[in-house]
Amino acid sequence: MSRIVLTGAGGSLAADVIPALLEAGHEVVAVDLAPPNARPGLVPFRADVTDLAEMRAAIAGADALVHLAGIPLEDDPDRLWDVNVRGTQVALEAARLIGVRRAVLASSIHAVGFVPAPDVATGLDLTHVPEEDRVPDDVAVRPNTFYGASKAAVEALGSMYADRWRLEVVLLRIASRQAEPTGRRHLRTWLSPADAGRLVLASVAAQVVGCTTVFGVSANSGRYVSSTGAARIGFTPQDDAEEYRDRVLETPVEHDQSAGWLHLLGGEFCSPEPPRASGSTTYPEAQ
Ligand SMILES: NC(=O)c1ccc[n+]([C@@H]2O[C@H](COP(=O)([O-])OP(=O)(O)OC[C@H]3O[C@@H](n4cnc5c(N)ncnc54)[C@H](O)[C@@H]3O)[C@@H](O)[C@H]2O)c1
Repeated sequence: MSRIVLTGAGGSLAADVIPALLEAGHEVVAVDLAPPNARPGLVPFRADVTDLAEMRAAIAGADALVHLAGIPLEDDPDRLWDVNVRGTQVALEAARLIGVRRAVLASSIHAVGFVPAPDVATGLDLTHVPEEDRVPDDVAVRPNTFYGASKAAVEALGSMYADRWRLEVVLLRIASRQAEPTGRRHLRTWLSPADAGRLVLASVAAQVVGCTTVFGVSANSGRYVSSTGAARIGFTPQDDAEEYRDRVLETPVEHDQSAGWLHLLGGEFCSPEPPRASGSTTYPEAQ
């Protein structure tokens, strides 16, 4: 059993991950501004990830850090730099100072959102993309939003802490974690809740040297990003968005925001007005 500090413990991804870690016998220190209630194996810990003293207290005695806390959508840049970038730097710094070697960081497919999809039909049918034609796990960053840029910075920090201080860092380029696929793009990018749990469990357990990057995607028949990184850390996704294909295609194209954006990994998040965190303002007009 390991003691794992998990930030963002009140969030939707954590709801998939915490049960997987507990079932595997790990103890989970659940860090959030409003952490979930205690239960066997789960230790709630209130901390702000941008506060080094609080994070040092949270991480003391841990074997691994799983850092999920952050703003998960486009937002005002100042907030993104503070919570996503500075929060990650502080979490990594706390891990370094305490001597925690393993850090699993939630990046996003939006760090590489403007990377073109492999040369598949940009129409609406699923096309099987062979592994050799898929986008490699470590394709260079090409963010599609300030959010994606904040995740590119998260990746840079992870890489730097691995090279400079020998942390073992797993960067997760998480795609579309949804209960079920709801749009055509999800047929390629869906990450099921159960596979999200398997992904983080594997990231904690894997043999890792330095910094490794892994796409977080289910075993979708229409997958167009590599599964090599997943195999490297022993993550075997088991769900396939194909099962939902007929239901997804029932939605008329004009009501599927993703339908016109299948040619870019970041889909409709590459549009001029990407989905945003509630309360954030839209991009100002140029003068
Ligand atoms: N859900 C997805 O499909 C998806 C896809 C790609 C990447 N990600 C990344 O995964 C992570 C988790 O996403 P999610 O969907 O669970 O988001 P979420 O918004 O549901 O959860 C994020 C959690 O972080 C906490 N948090 C925010 N600021 C904090 C702070 N300063 N200190 C402590 N806790 C703080 C929030 O309270 C919240 O509980 C995020 O980093 C997100 O960018 C998610």
